[in-house]
Parts: sequence; C-alpha cells; structure tokens
Amino acid sequence: MSGFSAEWLALREPVDHRARNPAVEETALEMFDGREIANILDLGCGSGSNLRALAPRLPKIQSWRLVDHDPALLAAARAALSAWAETAETEADGALRLEKDGKTIFVDFEEADLARDLDRALSGEIDLVTAAAFFDLAAATWIACFCAALVERELPLYTVLTYDGVEVWRPPHPADEAMLAAFHAHQATDKGFGPAAGPGAMSCLIEAFEKAGWEIQIGQSAWMLGAADSALIAMLAEGSAGAVAETGRVPAADVASWLAARRGASACAIGHEDFFARPTTEPFVG
Ligand SMILES: C[S@@+](CC[C@H](N)C(=O)[O-])C[C@H]1O[C@@H](n2cnc3c(N)ncnc32)[C@H](O)[C@@H]1O
Repeated sequence: MSGFSAEWLALREPVDHRARNPAVEETALEMFDGREIANILDLGCGSGSNLRALAPRLPKIQSWRLVDHDPALLAAARAALSAWAETAETEADGALRLEKDGKTIFVDFEEADLARDLDRALSGEIDLVTAAAFFDLAAATWIACFCAALVERELPLYTVLTYDGVEVWRPPHPADEAMLAAFHAHQATDKGFGPAAGPGAMSCLIEAFEKAGWEIQIGQSAWMLGAADSALIAMLAEGSAGAVAETGRVPAADVASWLAARRGASACAIGHEDFFARPTTEPFVG
C-alpha cells in the first residue's frame, strides 16, 4: 500500500485547492465549454480531493471513475464525497450518484494497481485523464509507457501538484540542505512503480508529450504555508524527517534538531507544478 492516510490527505486538501494553477486549469477545462456531459478518469484518487476541486467547473452531468490501489482510501473517498454532496445515493452497480450545486455527478470507484493495470484503467469512455499529487511517485519508465498509452488513445492529460523539488523553510536551519538532499534520495526509492521519478516527474511528462508533438501547458502550484497552516507544517516536517531518517544519510542528531525546529516553522513553500497536454489542434485546411 501507498501509506497515504486519509487524515493526511484531508489536511492537505484546502492547501492543494488554493495552490492549483488557474491558467492551466482554464486551458484544461476549455474542452467542456458548451458541453452537457464530462467523462473524467482520476488516477491515484485518494479520498477524492481532485473531484471536489474540479466538479464546480465542469458540466452539469459528470461521470467520474476514481482509481486507486488502496481500498481504505477508496472507502474514504466514498464517505467524503457523500458528506460533501447535498444528496448521495448508491446505485445498483455500487456507483454513487451525487447532487451538488445543480450538478449530477456519477462516481465509480475502482481498485487497481496502476503499475500493472493501466490498460484496464484507460478503458471505457474518457474525455480527460487527470491526477493530483501522483506522478512523482511513479518511475520514469512507467511515465513514458503511460504517456505513450495516452498518445495512442489521443487522451488529454491534466495533472496537478506534482512535486518539483523546491523547498524553502523559514527561518533557515543549518541542516536544510542536507535534509532536502536526503529527502530527494528517499523520493527516488521504489513507490510501487520502480525507482520513483520524484522531482524529475515533470520533465518525464514534458519530454514524452513534446516528442509526440502535443500542445502542453505548465504552471506553478506551490504550497505557500504560513501560521494558519501549522498542523500541516508539523505533519509535513514529521513526514520529511521520517523519510530522511530511513535513508541514514543525515546524522540522527541533525534530523532531530531539524524536526524540533521545523515542527514550529513560521512559513514554508513547497514547489509543485500543474501540467496539461492535448493532441495538437491543427487548423483545418480544405
Ligand atoms: C499523494 S496521494 C494523492 C491522492 C489524491 N490524488 C489527492 O490529491 O489527495 C497519492 C495517491 O496515489 C495512490 N497510488 C499510489 N500508487 C498507486 C498505484 N500503484 N496504483 C494506484 N494508485 C496508487 C495512493 O494510494 C494515493 O491515494
């Protein structure tokens, strides 16, 4: 399993939502202008944050397929979406039918390991493939295969909040540089897809779609955390320190001192990027 808890995902959800890049989102969703229906596939859906962010900007009728390998998170997604909607009914096939702000949203939940079951995930009717905070977990080789599969099917991709490796914590701490280097070494370990691309994931996406001649758009979506985000800052510091300790690259005393300072950091910025790719829209030449 991934080790992502529903509590962690709930804590980061409001910060994720405010960090999303509006320009990339606008381009990604313009295909739905004037349309009544959208069919969306969300990869590594966790507890459904990506749906809650995008549903208000999508057509009146939406059909979502939420894919994750963690059954506990899929159950958390069902519960969180039911609580978020005005009404929630379970259909005969197990899908949820939600009503929210004048939209009807059908949600299918699918347990699948995307490292192995990609073809199955990409089957069926899909207008847009999306994912949030997902691609840094995947291996460069897997990302290349994934992009090739989208190119073959001409499926556009909109992915948000891919970690880009840039971190600034305030006030500074003498162990910042060593901690970040060790954290990135941990990021490169296998998260279920082979050695993870970590902060290199965005370059893998760009390279694959540029090679295919697709149109792409990239935008910053950094977390800018301050005093109001102290719970998230503390949990982030604990997660980073735990990952660094596993690498054995930083003396334990330095990790402890960094963590003690970072739990109460006054501010930090964690770099992310959003990305959209679609087949080039050639002007028609008659
Ligand atoms: C950082 S969380 C992001 C969750 C959600 N997209 C969000 O923004 O809150 C990464 C998600 O990817 C899922 N995941 C990781 N590896 C996976 C795999 N091999 N197959 C399917 N899902 C996977 C995890 O279970 C987790 O829900």
